[in-house]
Amino acid sequence: MLDKDKDFGTPASSASEPVTLTIDGRQVTVPAGTSIMRAASEAGINIPKLCATDSLDPFGSCRMCLVQIEGGRGYPASCTTPVGEGMNVATQNKKLEQLRKGIAELYISDHPLDCLTCAANGDCELQDTVGQVGLREVRYGFNGENHLSAEKDTSNPYFTFDPSKCIVCSRCVRACEEVQGTFALTIDGRGFDSKVAASQNQDFLDSECVSCGACVQACPTATLMENSVIEHGVPDQSVITTCAYCGVGCSFRAEIKGEEVVRMVPDKNGGANHGHSCVKGRFAFGYATHKDRITQPMIRHSIDQPWREVSWEEAISFAADKLKSIQQKYGRDSIGGITSSRCTNEETYLVQKLVRAGFGNNNVDTCARVCHSPTGYGLKATFGESSGTQNFDSIAKTDVIMVIGANPTDGHPVFGSMMKRRIREGAKLIVVDPRNIDLIKSAHVKADYHLKLKPGTNVAVVNALAHVIVTEGLSDDRFVAERCEVESFEKWKAFVAKPENSPETLAEATGVPAKTIRAAARLFAQANNGAIYYGLGVTEHSQGSTTVIGIANLAMATGNIGREGVGVNPLRGQNNVQGSCDMGSFPHEFPGYRHVSDDATRKLFETEWGVSLQNEPGLRIPNMFSAAVDGSFKGLYVQGEDIAQSDPDINHVHHALRSLECLIVQDIFLNETAKFAHVFLPGSSFLEKNGTFTNAERRISPVRKVMKPLAGKEDWQVTQDLANALGYPMNYNHPSEIMDEIARTTPQFAGVSFAKLNQVGSIQWPCNDETPNGTPTMHADEFVRGKGRFMLTAYVPTEERASRKYPYLLTTGRILSQYNVGAQTRRTANVVWHEEDRLELHPHDAENLGILDGDWVGVKSRTGETVLRALVTERVQPGVVYTTFHFPHSGANVITTDNSDWATNCPEYKVTAVHLEKVKGPSDWQQDYRGFSDQQQDLLDNRVSASEA
Ligand code: SF4
Ligand code: SF4
Ligand code: SF4
Ligand code: FES
Repeated sequence: MLDKDKDFGTPASSASEPVTLTIDGRQVTVPAGTSIMRAASEAGINIPKLCATDSLDPFGSCRMCLVQIEGGRGYPASCTTPVGEGMNVATQNKKLEQLRKGIAELYISDHPLDCLTCAANGDCELQDTVGQVGLREVRYGFNGENHLSAEKDTSNPYFTFDPSKCIVCSRCVRACEEVQGTFALTIDGRGFDSKVAASQNQDFLDSECVSCGACVQACPTATLMENSVIEHGVPDQSVITTCAYCGVGCSFRAEIKGEEVVRMVPDKNGGANHGHSCVKGRFAFGYATHKDRITQPMIRHSIDQPWREVSWEEAISFAADKLKSIQQKYGRDSIGGITSSRCTNEETYLVQKLVRAGFGNNNVDTCARVCHSPTGYGLKATFGESSGTQNFDSIAKTDVIMVIGANPTDGHPVFGSMMKRRIREGAKLIVVDPRNIDLIKSAHVKADYHLKLKPGTNVAVVNALAHVIVTEGLSDDRFVAERCEVESFEKWKAFVAKPENSPETLAEATGVPAKTIRAAARLFAQANNGAIYYGLGVTEHSQGSTTVIGIANLAMATGNIGREGVGVNPLRGQNNVQGSCDMGSFPHEFPGYRHVSDDATRKLFETEWGVSLQNEPGLRIPNMFSAAVDGSFKGLYVQGEDIAQSDPDINHVHHALRSLECLIVQDIFLNETAKFAHVFLPGSSFLEKNGTFTNAERRISPVRKVMKPLAGKEDWQVTQDLANALGYPMNYNHPSEIMDEIARTTPQFAGVSFAKLNQVGSIQWPCNDETPNGTPTMHADEFVRGKGRFMLTAYVPTEERASRKYPYLLTTGRILSQYNVGAQTRRTANVVWHEEDRLELHPHDAENLGILDGDWVGVKSRTGETVLRALVTERVQPGVVYTTFHFPHSGANVITTDNSDWATNCPEYKVTAVHLEKVKGPSDWQQDYRGFSDQQQDLLDNRVSASEA
């Protein structure tokens, strides 16, 4: 069996035809198109190499890999020469040895001889290769013209570029092009003068580089090197685990020394990422050991008191007593819990179990409420399953990609790179987005159509696309007849064909010219394989669920479901949003999306959990807040979420949190929510625990403990302790036992276990007896619900419209370097790329308002007012402004309204009508909140320590 971690020098060939040749007297059979280098390497013969690596196409520049082919001329490079039937290859003989030594000698004569003190010592391919070819002396001396005094570039906070060690192999340049797709690097100059240059010979930090680290990983020398390795030395052990940032779910080798993480290296065997990563996963892990981590449990009776550090036992019994007395006083339904999409499946499962079985109600919800709940609703209603239909690799077979309300290069960067690669290979691209996101035009990528709609008009655009498909006879009627409910299709067809849904009628509302919609619809419908990718720009609207349904309708009508290259693919924001939804985090559903009123499912859990369970849905997050303000909801357990920053209409949220008698927050930092808490239970980062995450492609991947939990407990243990203190027994010894329970009770997970994950790496659910190896593509032969169901999607404009009082529309989103509420990434060097949230506005609007780049702008909506610094840019269209929400004091959610999706209550973050004006300083809210925050920081700083108590 091949060693999966070995570098075979060139990528594997996908051809099926076998070719047999002889290498060093050994007969070898490989697929046609394989390089001689790879064929030799697979047979255990390692040809020296420098410019070749199996994550990049062969380049043939270093000439180190020369071989001799019987009957052939000269000494060809084995990395660029494909195998041929009957070939007889020698990889080692006197002549080859001499040639290789000569090449190595030239490299070494212009290379610092500091191997013993070099950061890459022991982990340097140049060092290894020179050893492999047996070079013992350099005849030219070291005094000729050289690059040894070239200046280092230390501008990037995470890696250093030391050109004195560069062998100009171009691996970095090719990694930036082929793997990352940014094209930030070039080889500048010729011959002796050639050197690696970032953008226009700029510092890495000022260049187009997005700090993904692919070049650092590809570099065979210490030229591009992680600062953490320079500082701590080459790591000596590694553990395979999963990134805890976004929904791509990249697999990493956490490389450690003792218990210290020195470097995160994307795992080439990772099913989602195949060895690539972004700046967050690769570099921004320092938050895990940041000085702000709280590692001692704390309690207080009121939020005006200083915290008191206590033992775990005291904190847990304090919390349990409070919850019990609240229930005695106000009733069983007066408390609830919020699960975390950043925690593991096992932890999330346990929190919802605690609420349902321990609290005795269904008042459990999750942050997916505020992001992808419409996905759950819309895809379940049409396809029968609340999840995306494909794996990420599916895009390699897509001919037309439609991206709606998503910004993959910032939000899902590794998948963004895969998408860009496919576009460079020739796939067409349609983008539906109010802003000029990077995909519209960047190096070697250009959208064929940009449907630059007005915020809030997704449904109208989707209906207009459907109108063209139906009225121009572009639907795939055979697919529909075989796979869908024909009656529902006929009704839908009649509905979308109505003149009110034509692109011409809707052009004014959407702002998209009819001819662009028509052209985009034709392109999509006529594709062999058309795939739709969407994000929060679809779901976070008052008609979020309607758009998801509309997208599902489009895919079914064009026959783009059930095979590779097609499908409907929600790009999930946080690492485990899919998992937290799968695990029964919603108040109306048990794990596996089964309604709490379903008697058979309830019975199953009642038997497993040994209690009787409520058959009515509990409170959703917004209902919890309203009930708290009304006085009927008094206790809340929040694990790993920051509702005080992330939820809309934040004044209302803060009011609700202040109204609680007991707020228990379990987190790694004193986040914004914890400032309103009475009990703080220290959480553990992803490096400190075992479990699983499920990414946007339903891939369940292992999370493995790399270091001991700083506070002594993994998060699942804390939930278990709380359950026991409440009188509901839980006795797990390891998260694998929780997964076993999930597998027993949840059909999609029936075949999943830690043992199996250890064996196969990762699995896409459903995984059961029928699909023991998981399911990369859903709905292959039939939809999960049987026949696909078309549903009508009437466009109802949001109430949130631009008016004379609030003439601009604010929309929100995220940025590559920061993550969600920023609690993690703000505590890393990623702040060099984004140290504050800015308000993007178009130059015309800026001029009309007399606002210059960097000015303070007052942003006022009907719910509140905040102040942000202006960023004048043509990325936004006139009349639309945009901001991110990574910093609590920006107050982006002070201005978002309480409008929400009709089906799921997902907030309408993406449309807020606002008034703008130039101002001189922060808003009243910002000043008040700054005061509150400072006071809470004081109460934390002055906490009574356990030793004093
Ligand atoms: S870090 Fe990534 S984006 Fe930057 S130069 Fe290297 S490969 Fe390119
Ligand atoms: S920086 Fe590294 S990868 Fe790039 S050309 Fe130099 S040695 Fe090769
Ligand atoms: S793309 Fe997402 S999962 Fe992958 S490294 Fe970046 S943040 Fe982590
Ligand atoms: S490794 Fe083949 S030419 Fe460099």
